[in-house]
Amino acid sequence: MDLSVIVPTFNEGPNVAELVRRTTAAVPGRSVEIIFVDDSTDDTPDVIRAVAGEASVPVRLLHRDEPVGGLGGAVVDGIRAAQSDFCVVMDGDLQHPPEVIAELLARAEVGDADVVVASRYIAGGTSEGLANAVRTLVSRGSTMLTKAMFPRKLHNCSDPMTGFFLVDRRALDVEGLRPRGFKILLEILARKQMRVAEVPFSFAARFAGESKASFSQGLRFLTQLTMLRFGRMSAFAVVGGIGAVANLLITWALTGLGVQYLIASVIASVLTIVGNFLALEYLVFADMRAESGLMRHRFLKSFTFNGIEALVRIPLLWLLVSAAHLHVVIATALTLIAAFVVRFVYHALVVYAPKRSRLAQMPLPETLEDELAA
Ligand code: GDD
Ligand code: MN
Repeated sequence: MDLSVIVPTFNEGPNVAELVRRTTAAVPGRSVEIIFVDDSTDDTPDVIRAVAGEASVPVRLLHRDEPVGGLGGAVVDGIRAAQSDFCVVMDGDLQHPPEVIAELLARAEVGDADVVVASRYIAGGTSEGLANAVRTLVSRGSTMLTKAMFPRKLHNCSDPMTGFFLVDRRALDVEGLRPRGFKILLEILARKQMRVAEVPFSFAARFAGESKASFSQGLRFLTQLTMLRFGRMSAFAVVGGIGAVANLLITWALTGLGVQYLIASVIASVLTIVGNFLALEYLVFADMRAESGLMRHRFLKSFTFNGIEALVRIPLLWLLVSAAHLHVVIATALTLIAAFVVRFVYHALVVYAPKRSRLAQMPLPETLEDELAA
């Protein structure tokens, strides 16, 4: 097998036949397989099976009942299942022209690169197929931000946001990846220094159907970026910081409306505690949810922590000020920092602890060290 083409799909039925036809035609005389890693909720799996029956190359379907990690998780599962070490990752909507696969493969076979990126942003490439001016701006802006945060690792990559690339699996630490959301290439390039080569391509308009990109994917991307660069703890801190500011704003707005200040403060606290918990669930600890039991149990544990924290922190503050004679601002800062560290450790090790039965199946316990390594 010269090449495995991995195609993540979510409700892409009308694109499948055309994609298989063009991919097969793109690399004549080479032995290639196409793996659809499918999380669809419609009839896409049936379409894939039907097309597979007619195809002249092996077409495999990996349907996932538990779509862990979304698009990125699907790609990693595809890489694991691939017959070849040369894995091309390509969208299932034909925005990535399959004809470019031949160039990716030829470039990889030179033998001096671990990843060959199909880039919209080098000479000969275009991003015309992006749906509108806003998407173009978001793509350009996030590319710049990302490159600025990983100047060395992304030095040779002009398009870390692309979903079209070839990776040599032998250069990859598959188990070390923490895929979440859309930007799997970024995950691959930021974890480890890779030798990157590029070929240009023109990002096309969708063949059929509509994009699954969304605002929540955008939030997920920003969390991924923060966690890759600064570790999970900093994403946790950002969420906490936003919560604190939101708490102030809500209290301020409610008292402005004439609500009594203690009542305003209770409402603001409840809202931010719930908001904070949801941000931890869906952003900071999203990759650990599946393993750590029921959401309502996690909420109870997290909520209880907030109560106990207040009960412990305020007497401690009193001790620091009256017994240790610290300035009240310094004492408050110390208790808040201590509470932050304890809060993070508690959430990482208790609230999101993997359940025992699952633990046995896991290859390696995830260490804090690994998470904190920048
Ligand atoms: N298996 C699986 N699971 N596939 C998914 C999921 C999911 O949860 N969500 C989306 N996909 C598939 C889609 O079916 C499609 O084949 C591909 O991932 C890309 O999704 P689109 O909905 O077409 O998103 P896009 O065009 O906005 O984003 C693409 O373009 C970006 C460049 O601007 C993605 O390829 C990005 O990776 C790429 O960076
Ligand atoms: Mn697309």
